[in-house]
Amino acid sequence: MPSHLRIDGRRLYGRLEQLGQVGALPGGGVSRLALSDADRGGRDLVVGWMRELGLQISIDAIGNVVALRRGQEEGAPVMTGSHIDTVRTGGRFDGNLGVLAGLEVMRTLEDAGVRTRRPLAVAFFTNEEGSRFQPDMMGSLVYAGGLPLQEALATVGIDGTTVAENLSRIGYAGAAPVGAPRVHAYVELHIEQGPVLEAEGFTIGAVEGVQGISWSEFTLSGESNHAGTTPMRLRHDAGFVAAEIASFARRLARELGGDQVATVGALTLSPNLVNVVANRALLTVDLRNTDEDRLQLAERRLFEFAAKAASDEGVGLSRRSLARFEPVAFDRELVARVEAIARGLGHRVRRLPSGAGHDAQILASVCPACMIFVPSTRGVSHNVEEYTSPMDVQAGGDVLLQLLLELAQ
Ligand code: GLV
Ligand code: MN
Ligand code: MN
Repeated sequence: MPSHLRIDGRRLYGRLEQLGQVGALPGGGVSRLALSDADRGGRDLVVGWMRELGLQISIDAIGNVVALRRGQEEGAPVMTGSHIDTVRTGGRFDGNLGVLAGLEVMRTLEDAGVRTRRPLAVAFFTNEEGSRFQPDMMGSLVYAGGLPLQEALATVGIDGTTVAENLSRIGYAGAAPVGAPRVHAYVELHIEQGPVLEAEGFTIGAVEGVQGISWSEFTLSGESNHAGTTPMRLRHDAGFVAAEIASFARRLARELGGDQVATVGALTLSPNLVNVVANRALLTVDLRNTDEDRLQLAERRLFEFAAKAASDEGVGLSRRSLARFEPVAFDRELVARVEAIARGLGHRVRRLPSGAGHDAQILASVCPACMIFVPSTRGVSHNVEEYTSPMDVQAGGDVLLQLLLELAQ
């Protein structure tokens, strides 16, 4: 029997707006890079809300925060959640929606006096975004045993400081063991961050899986020299090779077609002056594909091209993998349940893959997991203009509530 319970979408939207004030950017977005002062501010606010609900809060050694609501029985909880860190120029919905919707579900159950059979948990995982420290999904990866804790703690970020020192600095190096509690099932509500649902008039996405992700960093070492006097044939221009790699990545994605995407999101030249040939370039390439074989092909082609372009210019090249995740398929039964619940609530629903990485894909290695998507206006995300309407937030929150109830009864 579906429950008549509904979340209070206005209350949830109000909290999204409140959390969006922490690290707010002009234009409506937020900047809360993982383990920054702004991240601490966001964490403190959300932990305060967890406390108000009387939840049992634990913080583990990588700074993941889990808030537990007792069930009628002991045992592994049904978990929901996401992340509250953002990219430097992020929106207020990415990740935050999943965490605050989880808390809204708990508030709704509390107000209705509903005690589920299994415990429920809402979590936020450290450094999902991976903008400051790589790899992304770091907290959930450590939680699920996919990355050793010590290795994660020793990770050096883009500002030269480590995860460990920043966790201590912001007061979130917790004492709880990583990987606890064990989870019965994991459900994550998230904005789509792409254009499909809105364009096709769907309110809910039943996410079938997440595409594979390959992040590489290339360092090119050339020779700086005078821009006016150095003949072209005598140059060892690291900037030129970086530009070649960047444009090849785009051509490669076009040529492979299908689901292949490629992005050069970071590029720095040294000494970065108008009249000096660059002696050093650092660039990142983000490759993604829903098909692992195609993703490997894209990597091979890119790496071969980069080596040849560097050698042709007499420039040194080194490559470092920043993150690598194979495509993940979510639990088929859970995906079907999302679809059925959404339909039962009168929403138009379609299945789709996720283009973005999510904590749910990591949790999928330790328990049945799935995701619920709601539309993103114009498909814009990792942008201050990211927007999802109150109606869609309500719809997603209701599907989440219903699914958590089913899984916890
Ligand atoms: C992380 O959220 C990513 O998909 O880049
Ligand atoms: Mn996210
Ligand atoms: Mn994101």
